[in-house]
Amino acid sequence: MRNVEIYHRLFDKYLSENAFHQAPQELYEPVNYILNLGGKRLRPLLVLMGTDLFDAPIEKALPAAFAVEVFHNFTLLHDDIMDEAPLRRGKPTVHARYGVNTGILSGDVMLILAYQYLSQIESPDVRLKLMPIFNKMAIEVCEGQQYDMNFERRNDVTIEAYIQMIALKTAVLIAAAFQMGALIGGASEEDSLKLYTFGRNLGIAFQIQDDILDTFGDPEKFGKKVGGDIVQNKKTYLVLKTYQLANEAQHADLQHLMNTPTENENEKIAAVKSIFQAVNVRGHAETLMYDFLKKSFDALESIPLSSARKNSLKDWANDLMIRQV
Ligand code: IPE
Ligand code: IPE
Ligand code: MG
Ligand code: MG
Ligand code: MG
Repeated sequence: MRNVEIYHRLFDKYLSENAFHQAPQELYEPVNYILNLGGKRLRPLLVLMGTDLFDAPIEKALPAAFAVEVFHNFTLLHDDIMDEAPLRRGKPTVHARYGVNTGILSGDVMLILAYQYLSQIESPDVRLKLMPIFNKMAIEVCEGQQYDMNFERRNDVTIEAYIQMIALKTAVLIAAAFQMGALIGGASEEDSLKLYTFGRNLGIAFQIQDDILDTFGDPEKFGKKVGGDIVQNKKTYLVLKTYQLANEAQHADLQHLMNTPTENENEKIAAVKSIFQAVNVRGHAETLMYDFLKKSFDALESIPLSSARKNSLKDWANDLMIRQV
């Protein structure tokens, strides 16, 4: 496995060479805007890493890596509309800047562009393997997003249902990105599935950290509105575990806050956060996150790769858990 900087550089070059200059500008400008706001580029990195792990030239994987990042950004664009989010990567969200109608349509075209790039994969055999993986993943992301919204209005969400929801909305894309990269690199079906399992557990851990940062992140660094999940009554692990840990009064307070239309956002965020802090839920969430990280490492055990490669993959995954954005 190479230095992740190399993957980043290669991907950024491909991204700038593939900017969208077509007309109408009103449709494509928001596409370039969101893609150039930056972000961690986690998913394309996983595609390239997956290919590199099997010693194939990583350039082959660039169209798929780009497809995955365009798809991810499409989901963010629509997610920000659904979550009424004002900020993304430290800048106004697409719908805040260009309007909701543009957000919908530019998102739509990104989904189709993602497929267009995916179909550029040279080998017909590999293409044929990737399409059903991508399709299944894309449908599951929509299912996860619907559960996420359904849960906003529910009071009976279990921790199991939450894990299943985040597996769908977030983890399957991270899993599929790694699996696709491995298949492009020539991995066997069996090994590619193990990498999928690695990615799925890593993705669950990744979303738990995202949920932690949404409440406890540094507003200067996080790039999204801190407290947004509280305002939207998202049933994150922080909420669900707090219900288990809370005394009667705290339980009643949290339930009241979650079921009352938000009048003053900052007051609501402060009130919910202080209940979270009173029961020390952050530590519980971090424990769960590391449980899933451990599961992701377990999936690597039986893959025939050198321990040096596995270790650098684990180091990289560990760093992802202590991120601030
Ligand atoms: C945001 O994904 C959506 C989640 C699944 C949490 P990232 O945290 O990877 O966002 P960027 O692409 O780095 O901005
Ligand atoms: C993201 O969930 C899942 C998808 C975009 C599919 P969030 O709603 O938590 O993502 P952020 O926090 O807005 O990035
Ligand atoms: Mg969101
Ligand atoms: Mg969301
Ligand atoms: Mg979030």
